[in-house]
Formats: sequence, structure tokens, C-alpha cells
Amino acid sequence: MIIRPMKKSDLPQVLDIEAVSFLLPWNESQFLYELTANPFGHIYVATENEIVIGFIDFWITFDSGCINQIAVMTGLRHKGIGMSLLIDAEKRLIASGVKSLTLEVRTHNKNAIALYEKFGFTGKFIKKVYYDNGDDALYMEKRLGL
Ligand SMILES: CC(C)(COP(=O)(O)OP(=O)(O)OC[C@H]1O[C@@H](n2cnc3c(N)ncnc32)[C@H](O)[C@@H]1OP(=O)(O)O)[C@@H](O)C(=O)NCCC(=O)NCCS
Repeated sequence: MIIRPMKKSDLPQVLDIEAVSFLLPWNESQFLYELTANPFGHIYVATENEIVIGFIDFWITFDSGCINQIAVMTGLRHKGIGMSLLIDAEKRLIASGVKSLTLEVRTHNKNAIALYEKFGFTGKFIKKVYYDNGDDALYMEKRLGL
């Protein structure tokens, strides 16, 4: 497996994974904005023989980082790819001087919460009715480089 920055040519594969992974998937223009215009955005893909099997999107603002999205191809889940994406991102975030990493996750997304806790995130508080469909979010944080 190789983890590398996402290219525009990865977009169709990333959109396929996105569509089956999220209740409100990002569309092509949202990914293009992240790739080409958002000065804070960073997207990395995990590939196997140049097939995209997962991706992670995070923002860096000064010494703070935020994970927006992480997803793995459905047939390849629970094999360590999500953890590898997080570990790789963490190295890049630390190298960029990020001290604190945060995220929001739907409170019913038990697999993702288990992944984040195993990675060292701690749940801090619930944001009620955070998502468009009324779902609550768990706000999680991890201090980096300690
Ligand atoms: C969340 C997601 C990215 C996890 O990726 P993954 O590659 O399957 O996760 P990993 O194999 O690296 O799992 C690492 C740990 O996460 C937890 N975990 C992941 N999948 C799990 C599952 N199906 N059941 C229970 N725990 C799970 C476990 O603690 C696991 O450690 P273990 O293997 O020792 O049990 C993946 O399930 C996914 O793409 N989900 C849809 C998108 C999503 O919900 N993204 C997160 C919200 S932004």
C-alpha cells in the first residue's frame, strides 16, 4: 500500500468510495475545491497497484489540525487501512507544527469512534443536532507530538 497526495485523476475513484461511505457525500466540486483552491486542505489517498482503496482529508490552520473525512473501500474495511491513513497524516501534521487535532463524528458511527479512540482521540463533548439530518456529533481531540 502507498499513501500519497490525491491527484485530480483519482477523483472518480474517490467519489465512488465517498458515495458509499457517507450519508451526505461530497460532490466533485467540493473535492476539486479541496484539491485546488482551499489553502488549508490536504487530501491523501491510499493505493494498491494505483487503485484507490481509501483517503483522508484534513485541514491545517497554524498549529491546529482537523480531520474532515476518512473512508476506506467497503470490501477492504477493518484491515488496518484507516489506521494507516491516520498514522501517515499524523506524521505530516506534526511535521507542519500541528499541536492539536480535532474532528466531529456522528455519535452512532461506532466503527469510526472505535478507530479514533484506538488512535488516541478522546471524546470531549456532544454537539447536539450538528448534522443536517439532525444527528448529534461527538467532538474529539488528540494532542500531537507529546
Ligand atoms: C471508519 C473507517 C474509515 C475505518 O477504516 P478501517 O480501515 O476499516 O479501520 P481499521 O481497519 O484501520 O480499524 C482500526 C480500528 O478501528 C476500529 N474498527 C474499525 N472497523 C471496525 C468494525 N467494523 N467494528 C469494530 N471496530 C472497528 C477497531 O478499533 C479497529 O481496531 P482492531 O482492528 O484492532 O479491531 C471505515 O469503516 C469507513 O470507511 N467507514 C465509512 C466512512 C466513515 O464513517 N468515516 C468516518 C467518519 S468521517
